[in-house]
Amino acid sequence: MTDRLTIRRPDDWHVHLRDGAMLNAVARHTARRFGRAIVMPNLTPPVTTIAAATAYRARIMTAVGGNSGFTPLMTCYLTDDSDPAEIARGHAEGVFTACKLYPAHATTNSAHGVTDIDALTGVLETLQRIGMPLLIHGEVTDRSIDIFDREAVFVERTLAPLTRDYPALKIVLEHITTAEAAAFVAEAAHPIAATITPQHLLLNRNALFDGGLRPHAYCLPVVKREAHRLAVRRAATSGSERFFLGTDSAPHVVGAKESGCGCAGIFNAPFALETYLRAFDEDDALDRFEGFASEHGARFYGLPLNEGTVTLVRDAVVVPGVIGEGGTEVVPFLAGETLGWRVE
Ligand code: DOR
Ligand code: ZN
Repeated sequence: MTDRLTIRRPDDWHVHLRDGAMLNAVARHTARRFGRAIVMPNLTPPVTTIAAATAYRARIMTAVGGNSGFTPLMTCYLTDDSDPAEIARGHAEGVFTACKLYPAHATTNSAHGVTDIDALTGVLETLQRIGMPLLIHGEVTDRSIDIFDREAVFVERTLAPLTRDYPALKIVLEHITTAEAAAFVAEAAHPIAATITPQHLLLNRNALFDGGLRPHAYCLPVVKREAHRLAVRRAATSGSERFFLGTDSAPHVVGAKESGCGCAGIFNAPFALETYLRAFDEDDALDRFEGFASEHGARFYGLPLNEGTVTLVRDAVVVPGVIGEGGTEVVPFLAGETLGWRVE
């Protein structure tokens, strides 16, 4: 049995670092473990300009305390009015690494998102031409579609045509949750990849109703039935270069989760590596973890692999019930549970 695992320093290809007091409370959890992170732009107001991204990046660097060796990779939030020239300039200047497509009203702070992807032609042509990745929250927003089907329907109705119309557009389908998404990404004759979160490897939809309503298991896309969890897990542990680590760590203060209308989002950053390892260990795939965590994403983005390493050892760690204080109290993923690995 392997009791010790040393991997190249990993990256988190999808994280919400928030802003203000919450940024100051949570950013260090990501910076402590990861060399780089793709930072989501769904602030209020969203990050849509070079100036906003530059200022946000500076606030992140202040929050992590300058010399942690951590690099935030910024994203541009797409709207119906996004300007292809601003995006191309931001990419050329090294400010924007990627663009994020939220279908309007799909999730937290997506009200300014895209109402009609056909209106994005100029942006998508530009991204394809300059090789800048499009990151997609892949759910339809049609409320007549069952919420558990919204990702699979998006793959069929929106993603498949998109890959046909823009054959060279680099796409990351974010936080996949279904067998349909995993199969599409694995098989498409297209430059496409997917991020996978810890929660979608460990939870199925029973977790939402386990003895009562469980707001801390609620995120979007919502966790699906067991067959989908298993398909997503097979994708993550398959060794395929198309699947890589993206936590979607999305902190909300405890009161916003434990509420009559609780926010979507799971805060998994503090124990992300330990949590992913639970899944890879259970599936006898520890030898595939380094590819998933530290190599596949960088290669897809065309970035160098990180220097340095992280070592994990088999040991019991108890996840605290709450992390943070003074108005930034957040309940972490798997609060109160004992994990089987810790970072040395
Ligand atoms: O659960 C989620 N939370 N899914 C998202 O897409 C957004 C995120 C957030 O920002 O809270
Ligand atoms: Zn997200």
